[in-house]
Amino acid sequence: MLIKNCKILYQGVEGIKDILVEDGKISKIYSCSDVEELDMDEIVDLDNNWLLPGIIDVHTHMRDPGLSHKEDFETGSMACAKGGVTTFIDMPNTVPNTTTEEILKDKENNSRGRSYVDYGFHFGGSRLDNSSEIKKVRDRVASTKIFLNMSTGDMLVEEENILENLFRESKIVSVHAEEDMVEKAIELSKKFKKPLYLCHLSKASEVELLRKAKGEGVKVYGEVAPHHLFLNETQADNLLLMKPELKTKEDNEALWMGILDGTIDTIGTDHAPHTLEEKNSKTTYGIPGIEDSLVMMLKELNKRISMKKLQEIMCENPAKIFGILGKGKIEVGYDADFVVVDLKNKELIKNEDVVSKCGWTPYDGIAGGGKVLATFVRGEMVYDGKEFMNKNGRGVSYNV
Ligand code: DOR
Ligand code: ZN
Ligand code: ZN
Repeated sequence: MLIKNCKILYQGVEGIKDILVEDGKISKIYSCSDVEELDMDEIVDLDNNWLLPGIIDVHTHMRDPGLSHKEDFETGSMACAKGGVTTFIDMPNTVPNTTTEEILKDKENNSRGRSYVDYGFHFGGSRLDNSSEIKKVRDRVASTKIFLNMSTGDMLVEEENILENLFRESKIVSVHAEEDMVEKAIELSKKFKKPLYLCHLSKASEVELLRKAKGEGVKVYGEVAPHHLFLNETQADNLLLMKPELKTKEDNEALWMGILDGTIDTIGTDHAPHTLEEKNSKTTYGIPGIEDSLVMMLKELNKRISMKKLQEIMCENPAKIFGILGKGKIEVGYDADFVVVDLKNKELIKNEDVVSKCGWTPYDGIAGGGKVLATFVRGEMVYDGKEFMNKNGRGVSYNV
């Protein structure tokens, strides 16, 4: 397949290129290709629209198995394709929690053939000390996710010696850590020399802790969720309950500053769908996010962030941090995972367009910064701006 007239950032420079895709990978990038010479049967002309590497979202809760009335692997992957996300990594607070090799195997089997995009899993650290299980699976998962604060799924781990065992046996540790617990996680990461991924930082003081640890040379990375950038406590209501909670406008600013100065490494949505009925009838933490993360971030393109920065934090860095092979960049030899966006179409985000099973979005009625025209996974179009096709998503591999 040849994708013609793509506006891309290639080796740091913006330009119009043609991309040749063979066997699902980028095989050549031309300044201007000679189609006749190439004898191509499949040609897609992008008409100078932007083509970005597919978005990689390493923080999603797809609810499958056990909570699939909220989301399942198929609907979650459709939400990804619609939002330009070509790889997602699923969190372990499903039912049962992903805390044994057996349960991980079941999850892997259950997901096969059901996703439109590529995917992977985080393993869960258990308060019952599953460090021997971590040892068995660590090369085939993105990380061990440990909850250091209470949140949806009852996976809190508090006991010091168990936390130490979990860190010791992990390849990378991702944490749900708020405030003091951020400090605690950094200490453990230093002690056991394990890379640490701080999920959904939401507060100025947390960004400062990360900045300091990076300054000391600790291998620690920080993620921010779009809702902590675009929303704050002035908007908080029942629907917008999540952990960590929305903070102040000043915190929004501190997170943006963290992105700009390189303290924050990634955008992860913490896509945490719950039905409206659940949200309205009881205290339920979590909001959906994967369908809108790219179009929301595009709102700040050339204002708060450059195209280069956006691609770093949404594509390149997530792949690099977790060692996801072949993804995150437009380079020869990389997977042909792309999202095509029309920056002129500032289409309204609407509840009625949501494909996630939860059926709502926190951004209903807000104009996005562009429209996703198409999404490609390993050279196959999986979303054409309306419909979904080619359900051939598969598990990613890690550089271990
Ligand atoms: O608000 C949240 N919801 N925070 C979490 O840490 C988990 C998530 C969920 O799974 O619903
Ligand atoms: Zn969390
Ligand atoms: Zn989460």
